[in-house]
Amino acid sequence: MGRQTLQANPNTNRDPNKRRTQSPSIPLIPQETKQLQLSKEVIWVATEMCLAHNVLILNLNAIYLQCEQVTQPKDVADFLIFCQASIEEMRTHHEMEEKSFFPWIAEYTGEKDIMTANLEQHHAFEGALKKLEEYLYAATPKVYDGKRVKKLLEDFAVELVPHLNDEIPTLLALEKYGGKQLGVVYERFNKQILSSVKNKVRALLPNPPPLLIFCNL
Ligand SMILES: [Fe+2]
Repeated sequence: MGRQTLQANPNTNRDPNKRRTQSPSIPLIPQETKQLQLSKEVIWVATEMCLAHNVLILNLNAIYLQCEQVTQPKDVADFLIFCQASIEEMRTHHEMEEKSFFPWIAEYTGEKDIMTANLEQHHAFEGALKKLEEYLYAATPKVYDGKRVKKLLEDFAVELVPHLNDEIPTLLALEKYGGKQLGVVYERFNKQILSSVKNKVRALLPNPPPLLIFCNL
């Protein structure tokens, strides 16, 4: 079994007040900071998840940095579509984990509660996600309020970001159950995600341009 290096740095501040006063951009999750002896499959899965989570963080940072800068009605309309697509991506990622990836991990490890802590984190940010989502889908260029988006995003990020960080060490810790099996489960999960991408593009954009690719992770 191949050996590679990867150490997820949780980079998580558990004090909500301190989290709120950190830099305006959410730091990306590091992929390789320390030597670890792990199978290539576990490294692969943790890296893929790390990259997927960083895409979510990059979108949140873009919304956070631009939400008060857009003022022209046409720009606001376009920006709202970007925000809605980012929320769809966020929802799809977590829903598919709950529906497939987490249960499949519980199944192959024989530990039915192994992903419970991560699942509880999903539930913890659901309320703030819903508030942000409702605002972004109800807003129009006429009533759009960038300050409101910023506040809703901050409330959401406080709950979400620790979860995005914490899930990586959870995956790394699956080494003891056998990396190969985790690799098989993740490949199956990947296939399921890719097979749903077309439907998601259709749902968001009835007539997408031919080369448009919507990242569904
Ligand atoms: Fe995830």
